[in-house]
Amino acid sequence: MKKQWWQREVVYQIYPKSFYDSNGDGIGDINGILEKLPYLKELGVTMLWICPIYQSPMDDNGYDISDYLNLAPEFGTMEQLKNLIDTAKEMGIKIIMDLVINHTSDEHKWFQEALKDKNSPYHDFYIFKEGTKEPNNWRSVFGTSVWEKVPDREEYFFHAFGKKQPDLNWENEKVREALYDMVNTWLDFGIAGFRVDAITFIKKDQTYKNLEPDGVDGLAKCTKASRNQSGIEVFLQELKEKTFDKYQCVTVAEAPGVQYDELDQFIGENGFFSMIFDFRHADLDVASGSEWFKRVPWTVKDLNKRIMTSQMAIQKVGWSANFIENHDQPRATSKYLLAEERNEEAVKMMGAMYFFLKGTPFIYQGQELGMVNFERESIDDFNDISSIDQYYRSMKEGCTKEEALYYINLRSRDNSRTPFPWNDEKNGGFTTGTPWLKMTETYKEINAKEQMGREDSIFHFYKNMIDFRQHSEYSDCLIYGEITPIATNEDVIGYERTYEGKKIKCYYNFSKESKKETLEEEAKAVIFHTGDQIELSKTGILLKPYQAVLVCME
Ligand code: NOJ
Ligand code: CA
Repeated sequence: MKKQWWQREVVYQIYPKSFYDSNGDGIGDINGILEKLPYLKELGVTMLWICPIYQSPMDDNGYDISDYLNLAPEFGTMEQLKNLIDTAKEMGIKIIMDLVINHTSDEHKWFQEALKDKNSPYHDFYIFKEGTKEPNNWRSVFGTSVWEKVPDREEYFFHAFGKKQPDLNWENEKVREALYDMVNTWLDFGIAGFRVDAITFIKKDQTYKNLEPDGVDGLAKCTKASRNQSGIEVFLQELKEKTFDKYQCVTVAEAPGVQYDELDQFIGENGFFSMIFDFRHADLDVASGSEWFKRVPWTVKDLNKRIMTSQMAIQKVGWSANFIENHDQPRATSKYLLAEERNEEAVKMMGAMYFFLKGTPFIYQGQELGMVNFERESIDDFNDISSIDQYYRSMKEGCTKEEALYYINLRSRDNSRTPFPWNDEKNGGFTTGTPWLKMTETYKEINAKEQMGREDSIFHFYKNMIDFRQHSEYSDCLIYGEITPIATNEDVIGYERTYEGKKIKCYYNFSKESKKETLEEEAKAVIFHTGDQIELSKTGILLKPYQAVLVCME
């Protein structure tokens, strides 16, 4: 594939509410990000993805936008954002924003107009159906029906996510035009591009027919008829032509439901987006991303298979967006390392495993410190709307209260949304006020200050790893090199990167036992590793428990 500027980036995802609070109101803000730019610069990341900061009642923490062109006052002003973008740019850091165009908040003026007057042109901006009961049995992603009754009218509106997030009617050209104008306004403002939210939901099966129920509630997952439906390609092509194509911007799509044989359309040479996130490895511990109480046992072999299948499919046509954490996922330490979640060597090994895959690496705030899940003792301690839904739904499906709490603790989106631990002082130095969401109880041990002052910390490891990808004689191979899986021992993940005469073999031992990996030819040198120095033999490498090793072959 043609070389693109965004292939060289290392992205850091910021959940602004929880990053750093500059004015003591308990909520992270734009000036908080500004103050912490030196920290991000030191880490070495080159691009920030900032989760939604637009005006919003915050029912889904900003993924429910009530005004696309203004910011939520708790985050700051447009001038402050401009200043952040300019200052970051001077430091060599680009900024992308979240683009949420499948739905708005019910407090958006378009929706308010639609509610006020059935004959308003804004009525057709959303999906309304007349009737005295729900038009069909589809279940929303956050539980209960996708249909919500309009007060005082025999009419329902559609929401694929929460009931305060009505879906926009993409069949209406006026909606699409209004959205494209907004997108272009933001690109003109000076951002480098977008992470595009839930974009495969914009097209619905127009028959709106009932589906075979898949739960005791008699409902069926709406994704079967409102995600990646045929006809979506027309909308996505138009979106790209009328907005992104006019700029040298990057677009990273959250596009669940896209099959591997459809990737070309999405991220191929003339694809709709620069890259997309693949969630198959992220959801390996549950039956589906929206049913946390259906746990699935997994092995390192399964993880390996999912990651490599994805890499191979994506490499054929385009570019991958690699991640192990984000604001919708539990901490990767707790999910993938289980009892070893606090073992720093294991955390580093896992970090290297995904970081040196082919694609642009995304680091979620706190991942570079090896943050772990936060176990909550009562449902009252949760903020995330989907955790609350999953709690009650799992009990309807037969779980006890204890089981329900156990399942949401494992999977809750609040695990990764806790305020960032800057130091071991009160509230981890995140705020001088009361944090909007409880601090994790681990901040005394896991915090940025302690790790920045300790050479062998996870923070320093991430810093070195980023530097190695970006600024070493192996950079081009690690960035552009072909990837091929290597056959390895059971609990070891291995792959090879090759580029213009260079070959790097990468091994990651996920087990507490040492593992001997055979090399068919003698390696030239160990170029990167965790843990103790490695002794290479002519025929192989002995990996210590939880060790990562990269060797150069040519
Ligand atoms: C995906 C976002 O990542 C998630 O946080 C949000 O709740 C849904 N889309 C709905 O916008
Ligand atoms: Ca604040």
